[in-house]
Amino acid sequence: MSEPLAILGGLTAEQFLTEYWQKKPLLVRNAMSEIVDILEPNDVMELALEDNVTARLIKQKDRNPNQWSVKSSPLIKGDFQKMPKLWTLLVQAVDHYSFDLAALWKKFPFIPQWRRDDIMVSYAPKGGSVGQHFDFYDVFLVQGYGQRRWQLGQMCDESTKFVPNQPLRLLPEMNVHFDEILAPGDLLYVPPGLSHYGVAEDDCLTYSFGFRMPNVASMMDRVSDYFADQQNLKNPLLDIIRDQTSQIGEITTNELAYLKAKVLEQLQHSNHFEHALMSLMSEAKYPENIPEADEIETEDLSAVLDSGYELCLEPASRLLYTLEDNQLLFWANGEACCISEAFENSLKKLADGESLAFDQHFNHEEILQDIAQLLNESILMLLPSAEDSE
Ligand code: SIN
Ligand code: CO
Repeated sequence: MSEPLAILGGLTAEQFLTEYWQKKPLLVRNAMSEIVDILEPNDVMELALEDNVTARLIKQKDRNPNQWSVKSSPLIKGDFQKMPKLWTLLVQAVDHYSFDLAALWKKFPFIPQWRRDDIMVSYAPKGGSVGQHFDFYDVFLVQGYGQRRWQLGQMCDESTKFVPNQPLRLLPEMNVHFDEILAPGDLLYVPPGLSHYGVAEDDCLTYSFGFRMPNVASMMDRVSDYFADQQNLKNPLLDIIRDQTSQIGEITTNELAYLKAKVLEQLQHSNHFEHALMSLMSEAKYPENIPEADEIETEDLSAVLDSGYELCLEPASRLLYTLEDNQLLFWANGEACCISEAFENSLKKLADGESLAFDQHFNHEEILQDIAQLLNESILMLLPSAEDSE
Protein backbone atom coordinates (compact mmCIF):
# COMPACT_ATOMS: atom_id res chain seq x y z
CA MET A 1 0.00 0.00 0.00
CA SER A 2 2.75 2.43 -0.84
CA GLU A 3 0.84 4.36 -3.51
CA PRO A 4 -0.50 7.84 -2.64
CA LEU A 5 -4.10 7.65 -1.42
CA ALA A 6 -6.63 10.35 -2.34
CA ILE A 7 -8.44 9.84 0.99
CA LEU A 8 -5.19 10.84 2.72
CA GLY A 9 -4.58 13.83 0.46
CA GLY A 10 -1.84 12.03 -1.46
CA LEU A 11 -0.01 10.55 1.53
CA THR A 12 0.74 6.85 1.40
CA ALA A 13 -0.81 4.65 4.06
CA GLU A 14 2.66 4.16 5.57
CA GLN A 15 3.28 7.93 5.78
CA PHE A 16 -0.09 8.48 7.40
CA LEU A 17 0.37 5.66 9.89
CA THR A 18 3.86 6.80 10.87
CA GLU A 19 3.27 10.53 11.06
CA TYR A 20 -0.41 11.06 11.89
CA TRP A 21 -2.24 7.96 13.18
CA GLN A 22 -2.81 8.37 16.93
CA LYS A 23 -0.55 11.44 16.87
CA LYS A 24 -1.77 14.48 14.99
CA PRO A 25 -4.71 15.73 12.93
CA LEU A 26 -4.94 15.70 9.15
CA LEU A 27 -7.26 17.82 7.01
CA VAL A 28 -7.98 16.59 3.49
CA ARG A 29 -10.15 18.70 1.20
CA ASN A 30 -12.51 16.81 -1.10
CA ALA A 31 -11.32 13.43 0.21
CA MET A 32 -14.59 11.53 -0.04
CA SER A 33 -16.94 13.02 -2.61
CA GLU A 34 -18.92 9.73 -2.67
CA ILE A 35 -20.40 10.49 0.74
CA VAL A 36 -22.05 13.71 -0.37
CA ASP A 37 -25.84 13.57 -0.36
CA ILE A 38 -26.11 9.84 0.53
CA LEU A 39 -28.30 11.07 3.38
CA GLU A 40 -30.13 14.35 3.79
CA PRO A 41 -31.14 15.93 7.10
CA ASN A 42 -34.69 14.54 6.86
CA ASP A 43 -33.40 10.97 6.39
CA VAL A 44 -31.45 11.31 9.63
CA MET A 45 -34.53 12.58 11.47
CA GLU A 46 -36.59 9.66 10.17
CA LEU A 47 -33.89 7.13 11.01
CA ALA A 48 -33.61 8.45 14.58
CA LEU A 49 -37.29 7.61 15.15
CA GLU A 50 -37.02 4.00 13.97
CA ASP A 51 -37.08 1.05 16.38
CA ASN A 52 -33.72 -0.22 17.64
CA VAL A 53 -31.75 2.77 16.34
CA THR A 54 -29.23 4.17 18.81
CA ALA A 55 -29.54 7.94 18.80
CA ARG A 56 -29.11 10.95 21.06
CA LEU A 57 -30.73 14.35 20.90
CA ILE A 58 -28.56 17.03 22.46
CA LYS A 59 -30.00 20.44 23.25
CA GLN A 60 -28.64 23.73 24.56
CA LYS A 61 -30.97 26.02 26.51
CA ASP A 62 -31.95 29.21 24.60
CA ARG A 63 -31.49 31.30 27.75
CA ASN A 64 -28.22 29.69 28.72
CA PRO A 65 -26.43 27.77 25.94
CA ASN A 66 -23.97 26.48 28.57
CA GLN A 67 -26.80 24.38 29.99
CA TRP A 68 -27.01 21.12 28.03
CA SER A 69 -29.47 18.23 27.97
CA VAL A 70 -29.27 14.80 26.35
CA LYS A 71 -32.16 12.50 25.47
CA SER A 72 -31.10 8.99 24.41
CA SER A 73 -33.09 6.63 22.18
CA PRO A 74 -35.78 5.53 21.89
CA LEU A 75 -36.65 8.97 20.52
CA ILE A 76 -40.20 9.91 19.66
CA LYS A 77 -41.70 12.73 17.56
CA GLY A 78 -42.54 14.63 20.74
CA ASP A 79 -38.82 14.93 21.52
CA PHE A 80 -38.51 17.20 18.47
CA GLN A 81 -41.26 19.58 19.51
CA LYS A 82 -40.46 22.90 21.16
CA MET A 83 -36.84 22.70 20.04
CA PRO A 84 -34.34 25.32 21.23
CA LYS A 85 -32.26 27.21 18.67
CA LEU A 86 -29.19 25.02 19.22
CA TRP A 87 -29.36 21.25 19.06
CA THR A 88 -27.67 18.20 17.53
CA LEU A 89 -29.06 14.81 16.63
CA LEU A 90 -26.55 11.92 16.71
CA VAL A 91 -27.38 8.57 15.12
CA GLN A 92 -25.00 5.63 15.57
CA ALA A 93 -24.18 2.84 13.12
CA VAL A 94 -25.71 4.40 10.00
CA ASP A 95 -23.46 2.03 8.03
CA HIS A 96 -25.85 -0.74 9.11
CA TYR A 97 -28.74 0.98 7.36
CA SER A 98 -27.08 2.12 4.15
CA PHE A 99 -24.97 -0.18 1.96
CA ASP A 100 -23.56 2.94 0.26
CA LEU A 101 -22.22 4.17 3.58
CA ALA A 102 -21.01 0.70 4.63
CA ALA A 103 -19.05 0.51 1.34
CA LEU A 104 -17.11 3.65 2.33
CA TRP A 105 -15.16 1.70 4.98
CA LYS A 106 -13.22 0.41 1.95
CA LYS A 107 -11.63 3.86 1.81
CA PHE A 108 -9.64 2.91 4.95
CA PRO A 109 -7.93 -0.33 3.91
CA PHE A 110 -4.92 0.55 6.04
CA ILE A 111 -6.74 0.02 9.36
CA PRO A 112 -7.91 -3.51 10.17
CA GLN A 113 -11.59 -4.26 10.48
CA TRP A 114 -11.39 -5.28 14.15
CA ARG A 115 -10.51 -1.67 14.99
CA ARG A 116 -13.71 -0.35 13.43
CA ASP A 117 -16.46 0.94 15.61
CA ASP A 118 -19.26 2.37 13.50
CA ILE A 119 -20.19 5.34 11.35
CA MET A 120 -22.13 7.92 13.34
CA VAL A 121 -23.90 10.82 11.69
CA SER A 122 -24.65 14.14 13.34
CA TYR A 123 -27.30 16.56 12.17
CA ALA A 124 -27.33 20.13 13.46
CA PRO A 125 -28.83 23.44 12.37
CA LYS A 126 -26.67 26.58 12.20
CA GLY A 127 -24.81 27.03 15.49
CA GLY A 128 -25.48 23.46 16.69
CA SER A 129 -22.64 21.41 18.21
CA VAL A 130 -21.89 18.78 20.85
CA GLY A 131 -19.56 21.18 22.66
CA GLN A 132 -15.80 21.27 23.19
CA HIS A 133 -14.66 17.76 24.05
CA PHE A 134 -12.21 14.96 23.35
CA ASP A 135 -12.71 11.27 22.56
CA PHE A 136 -10.60 8.26 23.47
CA TYR A 137 -10.72 6.91 19.94
CA ASP A 138 -9.51 7.75 16.43
CA VAL A 139 -12.08 9.39 14.23
CA PHE A 140 -12.26 10.52 10.62
CA LEU A 141 -14.84 13.32 10.50
CA VAL A 142 -16.29 13.61 7.01
CA GLN A 143 -18.63 16.38 5.97
CA GLY A 144 -21.65 14.97 4.12
CA TYR A 145 -23.99 17.93 3.74
CA GLY A 146 -23.72 21.64 4.54
CA GLN A 147 -20.69 23.07 6.27
CA ARG A 148 -19.15 22.75 9.72
CA ARG A 149 -16.44 24.82 11.36
CA TRP A 150 -13.90 22.70 13.23
CA GLN A 151 -11.55 23.96 15.88
CA LEU A 152 -8.83 21.77 17.37
CA GLY A 153 -7.03 22.42 20.64
CA GLN A 154 -4.81 20.78 23.25
CA MET A 155 -4.27 17.08 23.92
CA CYS A 156 -6.28 15.72 26.86
CA ASP A 157 -6.17 12.56 28.95
CA GLU A 158 -7.79 10.76 31.92
CA SER A 159 -6.75 13.60 34.22
CA THR A 160 -8.47 16.32 32.16
CA LYS A 161 -11.18 18.17 34.10
CA PHE A 162 -14.67 18.57 32.67
CA VAL A 163 -17.30 21.26 33.09
CA PRO A 164 -19.19 20.19 36.25
CA ASN A 165 -22.89 19.26 36.37
CA GLN A 166 -23.41 18.70 32.64
CA PRO A 167 -24.65 15.51 30.95
CA LEU A 168 -21.73 15.64 28.45
CA ARG A 169 -17.99 15.55 29.18
CA LEU A 170 -17.33 19.11 28.07
CA LEU A 171 -14.03 20.96 28.30
CA PRO A 172 -14.01 24.33 30.08
CA GLU A 173 -11.54 25.70 27.55
CA MET A 174 -9.63 24.94 24.35
CA ASN A 175 -6.34 26.39 23.16
CA VAL A 176 -7.30 26.62 19.51
CA HIS A 177 -4.51 26.05 16.98
CA PHE A 178 -6.64 24.93 14.04
CA ASP A 179 -9.75 26.64 12.72
CA GLU A 180 -11.21 25.54 9.38
CA ILE A 181 -14.59 25.23 7.71
CA LEU A 182 -15.27 21.83 6.16
CA ALA A 183 -17.42 21.54 3.05
CA PRO A 184 -19.11 18.38 1.72
CA GLY A 185 -16.52 15.68 0.98
CA ASP A 186 -13.82 17.21 3.21
CA LEU A 187 -12.23 15.00 5.86
CA LEU A 188 -10.56 15.72 9.18
CA TYR A 189 -8.69 12.99 11.05
CA VAL A 190 -8.70 13.58 14.81
CA PRO A 191 -6.43 11.37 16.97
CA PRO A 192 -7.50 10.11 20.41
CA GLY A 193 -7.27 12.74 23.13
CA LEU A 194 -7.20 15.79 20.85
CA SER A 195 -9.81 18.35 21.90
CA HIS A 196 -12.20 19.35 19.12
CA TYR A 197 -15.22 21.53 18.61
CA GLY A 198 -17.41 21.41 15.51
CA VAL A 199 -20.10 24.03 15.00
CA ALA A 200 -22.62 23.83 12.14
CA GLU A 201 -22.37 26.78 9.74
CA ASP A 202 -25.74 25.86 8.26
CA ASP A 203 -27.96 22.74 8.25
CA CYS A 204 -25.23 20.14 8.25
CA LEU A 205 -24.49 16.42 8.40
CA THR A 206 -21.12 15.19 9.62
CA TYR A 207 -20.11 11.54 9.58
CA SER A 208 -17.73 10.10 12.18
CA PHE A 209 -15.85 6.99 11.05
CA GLY A 210 -14.83 5.75 14.48
CA PHE A 211 -11.99 3.35 15.26
CA ARG A 212 -11.97 2.05 18.81
CA MET A 213 -9.42 0.08 20.83
CA PRO A 214 -10.67 -2.30 23.51
CA ASN A 215 -9.85 -1.54 27.12
CA VAL A 216 -8.00 -3.92 29.41
CA ALA A 217 -10.91 -4.24 31.85
CA SER A 218 -13.30 -5.53 29.18
CA MET A 219 -10.68 -8.01 27.94
CA MET A 220 -9.99 -9.23 31.49
CA ASP A 221 -13.68 -9.63 32.04
CA ARG A 222 -14.11 -11.72 28.91
CA VAL A 223 -10.96 -13.76 29.50
CA SER A 224 -11.99 -14.58 33.06
CA ASP A 225 -15.54 -15.58 31.97
CA TYR A 226 -14.08 -17.79 29.28
CA PHE A 227 -11.77 -19.61 31.68
CA ALA A 228 -14.42 -19.83 34.37
CA ASP A 229 -16.66 -21.70 31.90
CA GLN A 230 -14.07 -24.46 31.31
CA GLN A 231 -15.26 -27.61 33.06
CA ASN A 232 -11.76 -29.05 33.57
CA LEU A 233 -10.74 -25.96 35.55
CA LYS A 234 -13.51 -26.40 38.08
CA ASN A 235 -11.80 -29.21 40.00
CA PRO A 236 -9.92 -28.20 43.19
CA LEU A 237 -6.15 -28.03 42.81
CA LEU A 238 -3.79 -30.44 44.57
CA ASP A 239 -2.28 -28.98 47.71
CA ILE A 240 1.15 -27.41 47.67
CA ILE A 241 3.85 -29.74 49.02
CA ARG A 242 3.73 -29.22 52.82
CA ASP A 243 7.17 -29.89 54.20
CA GLN A 244 6.95 -27.16 56.83
CA THR A 245 4.22 -25.90 59.10
CA SER A 246 3.26 -22.25 59.40
CA GLN A 247 0.96 -20.15 61.58
CA ILE A 248 -2.58 -21.26 60.86
CA GLY A 249 -3.80 -17.69 60.40
CA GLU A 250 -1.26 -17.03 57.66
CA ILE A 251 -1.41 -17.69 53.96
CA THR A 252 2.27 -17.69 53.07
CA THR A 253 3.86 -15.93 50.13
CA ASN A 254 4.78 -19.40 48.85
CA GLU A 255 1.19 -20.51 48.98
CA LEU A 256 0.00 -17.37 47.20
CA ALA A 257 2.75 -17.79 44.59
CA TYR A 258 1.63 -21.40 44.03
CA LEU A 259 -2.00 -20.33 43.52
CA LYS A 260 -1.00 -17.50 41.21
CA ALA A 261 1.29 -19.81 39.21
CA LYS A 262 -1.63 -22.20 38.66
CA VAL A 263 -3.71 -19.39 37.16
CA LEU A 264 -0.85 -18.04 35.04
CA GLU A 265 -0.04 -21.53 33.78
CA GLN A 266 -3.53 -21.79 32.35
CA LEU A 267 -3.40 -18.32 30.85
CA GLN A 268 -0.12 -19.06 29.14
CA HIS A 269 -0.54 -22.62 28.04
CA SER A 270 -3.96 -22.89 26.52
CA ASN A 271 -5.68 -21.33 23.53
CA HIS A 272 -8.56 -20.13 25.67
CA PHE A 273 -6.91 -16.74 26.08
CA GLU A 274 -6.72 -16.11 22.34
CA HIS A 275 -10.19 -17.56 21.83
CA ALA A 276 -11.66 -15.29 24.49
CA LEU A 277 -10.12 -12.26 22.78
CA MET A 278 -11.27 -13.37 19.33
CA SER A 279 -14.76 -13.84 20.67
CA LEU A 280 -14.75 -10.34 22.17
CA MET A 281 -13.22 -8.65 19.11
CA SER A 282 -15.59 -10.35 16.69
CA GLU A 283 -18.68 -9.33 18.64
CA ALA A 284 -21.14 -7.18 16.72
CA LYS A 285 -21.36 -3.67 18.20
CA TYR A 286 -25.10 -3.44 17.55
CA PRO A 287 -26.38 -7.04 17.44
CA GLU A 288 -29.96 -5.75 17.26
CA ASN A 289 -29.10 -4.38 13.79
CA ILE A 290 -28.31 -7.84 12.43
CA PRO A 291 -31.30 -8.71 10.26
CA GLU A 292 -33.20 -11.97 10.59
CA ALA A 293 -32.28 -13.96 7.46
CA ASP A 294 -34.82 -15.72 5.23
CA GLU A 295 -33.93 -19.40 5.69
CA ILE A 296 -32.07 -20.67 2.62
CA GLU A 297 -31.14 -24.26 1.65
CA THR A 298 -28.15 -25.42 -0.36
CA GLU A 299 -30.46 -26.38 -3.28
CA ASP A 300 -31.80 -22.80 -3.42
CA LEU A 301 -28.23 -21.62 -3.57
CA SER A 302 -27.10 -23.88 -6.37
CA ALA A 303 -30.12 -22.68 -8.35
CA VAL A 304 -28.86 -19.07 -8.29
CA LEU A 305 -25.20 -19.73 -9.13
CA ASP A 306 -24.17 -17.58 -12.12
CA SER A 307 -27.34 -15.48 -11.87
CA GLY A 308 -25.63 -12.16 -11.21
CA TYR A 309 -25.37 -12.31 -7.42
CA GLU A 310 -22.41 -11.56 -5.23
CA LEU A 311 -21.45 -12.64 -1.75
CA CYS A 312 -20.42 -10.01 0.76
CA LEU A 313 -20.42 -9.27 4.47
CA GLU A 314 -23.58 -8.24 6.27
CA PRO A 315 -22.59 -4.74 7.49
CA ALA A 316 -23.99 -5.20 11.02
CA SER A 317 -22.10 -8.49 11.49
CA ARG A 318 -18.41 -8.88 12.21
CA LEU A 319 -16.23 -11.58 10.65
CA LEU A 320 -12.55 -11.91 11.61
CA TYR A 321 -9.91 -14.55 11.22
CA THR A 322 -6.59 -15.38 12.82
CA LEU A 323 -3.85 -17.94 12.31
CA GLU A 324 -3.58 -20.62 14.97
CA ASP A 325 -0.90 -23.27 14.49
CA ASN A 326 -0.77 -22.30 10.81
CA GLN A 327 -4.50 -22.80 10.44
CA LEU A 328 -7.04 -20.13 9.64
CA LEU A 329 -9.64 -19.78 12.37
CA PHE A 330 -12.74 -17.70 11.70
CA TRP A 331 -14.84 -15.90 14.27
CA ALA A 332 -18.12 -14.16 13.60
CA ASN A 333 -20.37 -12.23 15.95
CA GLY A 334 -18.58 -13.55 19.02
CA GLU A 335 -18.58 -17.24 18.04
CA ALA A 336 -16.04 -19.52 16.39
CA CYS A 337 -17.11 -20.33 12.84
CA CYS A 338 -16.51 -23.88 11.61
CA ILE A 339 -16.31 -24.12 7.85
CA SER A 340 -14.84 -26.57 5.36
CA GLU A 341 -11.24 -26.16 4.24
CA ALA A 342 -12.45 -25.72 0.66
CA PHE A 343 -14.21 -22.48 1.59
CA GLU A 344 -11.41 -20.97 3.68
CA ASN A 345 -9.74 -18.86 1.01
CA SER A 346 -12.98 -17.34 -0.15
CA LEU A 347 -14.15 -16.61 3.39
CA LYS A 348 -10.81 -14.95 4.10
CA LYS A 349 -11.36 -12.65 1.08
CA LEU A 350 -14.87 -11.85 2.30
CA ALA A 351 -13.54 -11.04 5.79
CA ASP A 352 -10.99 -8.77 4.08
CA GLY A 353 -13.89 -6.82 2.58
CA GLU A 354 -14.00 -8.27 -0.95
CA SER A 355 -17.29 -9.07 -2.65
CA LEU A 356 -17.21 -12.34 -4.61
CA ALA A 357 -19.24 -13.19 -7.70
CA PHE A 358 -21.53 -16.10 -6.79
CA ASP A 359 -20.54 -18.40 -9.63
CA GLN A 360 -19.51 -21.99 -10.44
CA HIS A 361 -16.46 -21.53 -8.28
CA PHE A 362 -18.75 -22.25 -5.29
CA ASN A 363 -20.43 -25.28 -6.83
CA HIS A 364 -19.39 -27.88 -4.23
CA GLU A 365 -21.78 -29.41 -1.74
CA GLU A 366 -19.72 -28.59 1.34
CA ILE A 367 -19.02 -25.00 0.23
CA LEU A 368 -22.70 -24.41 -0.49
CA GLN A 369 -23.50 -25.78 2.98
CA ASP A 370 -21.04 -23.36 4.56
CA ILE A 371 -22.50 -20.46 2.59
CA ALA A 372 -26.07 -21.42 3.49
CA GLN A 373 -25.11 -21.54 7.17
CA LEU A 374 -23.40 -18.13 7.06
CA LEU A 375 -26.31 -16.59 5.14
CA ASN A 376 -28.81 -18.06 7.61
CA GLU A 377 -26.81 -16.57 10.48
CA SER A 378 -26.73 -13.19 8.64
CA ILE A 379 -22.93 -13.14 8.65
CA LEU A 380 -22.88 -13.00 4.83
CA MET A 381 -25.33 -11.55 2.32
CA LEU A 382 -26.15 -12.40 -1.26
CA LEU A 383 -26.84 -9.26 -3.26
CA PRO A 384 -27.46 -8.57 -6.94
CA SER A 385 -23.98 -7.68 -8.19
CA ALA A 386 -23.19 -4.01 -8.73
CA GLU A 387 -23.08 -4.23 -12.55
CA ASP A 388 -26.35 -6.15 -12.66
CA SER A 389 -28.20 -3.76 -10.41
CA GLU A 390 -27.21 -0.62 -12.35
C1 SIN B 1 -20.34 15.91 15.58
O1 SIN B 1 -20.36 15.41 14.45
O2 SIN B 1 -20.94 16.95 15.83
C2 SIN B 1 -19.62 15.28 16.69
C3 SIN B 1 -18.56 14.35 16.28
C4 SIN B 1 -17.41 14.37 17.26
O3 SIN B 1 -17.08 15.39 17.78
O4 SIN B 1 -16.79 13.34 17.53
CO1 CO C 1 -15.74 13.99 19.18
